[in-house]
Amino acid sequence: MGEVLKVAMPKGRIYKKAAQLFREAGIVIPDDVDDSRRLVIPIPEANMEFIMAKPVDVPTYVEYGVADIGIVGKDVLLEENRDVYELLDLGIARCRMSVIALPDRQPGIHLRVATKYPNVAARYFREQGEQVEVIKLNGSIELAPLIGLADRIVDMVETGQTLKDNGLVELESIFGITSRLIANRVSYRMKNDAIQQLCDKLEKVMPGAGAAKV
Ligand code: PRP
Repeated sequence: MGEVLKVAMPKGRIYKKAAQLFREAGIVIPDDVDDSRRLVIPIPEANMEFIMAKPVDVPTYVEYGVADIGIVGKDVLLEENRDVYELLDLGIARCRMSVIALPDRQPGIHLRVATKYPNVAARYFREQGEQVEVIKLNGSIELAPLIGLADRIVDMVETGQTLKDNGLVELESIFGITSRLIANRVSYRMKNDAIQQLCDKLEKVMPGAGAAKV
């Protein structure tokens, strides 16, 4: 057996989907791992170690090489802009990044945009040639237009239920989001066999996804 593969796993709802995909690919993850509060979890059955990270931090652990590979949403990759290889589009946790507002609300000249994704939002409006003030929030973004903090929000839409429940409308979808498998540049060379074997297994079971360019 080769060296242990350190995998940065996103804590929370994406973890469940990622673990399911790993299991479908034949990677043995004991059931008790799913509900554990441990942050570093050896998985000797798979010759792996899971590092349970906050999703937004996964690319950071991978860039610095304390995790060899990681699973992370395209939203986080585009926001964080870390120096990592994107190996596979896993096709799980599918949703989209959108511009959202209250219906029929005409913004003033000075557009305010609230978001958890300030870099993504700033880039989008710059490309549109619109001058905006971006306000960073950390959650419950839909509150911002409801109580008058912002004219627009840039946020993730999955089922659309949050928008519906709060009377908001999607003005434009900016890009589609799925989870990606990423790798540290050095690990990709040093642990290439193990990483390649994992990719081969995942590719056989991932839902209608294709390989992303390295
Ligand atoms: C996300 C996102 C939306 C919601 C979209 O929030 O920011 O609010 O899910 O899902 P839906 O279209 O299926 O309703 P999350 O639950 O991650 O919490 P947050 O508000 O703290 O970001």
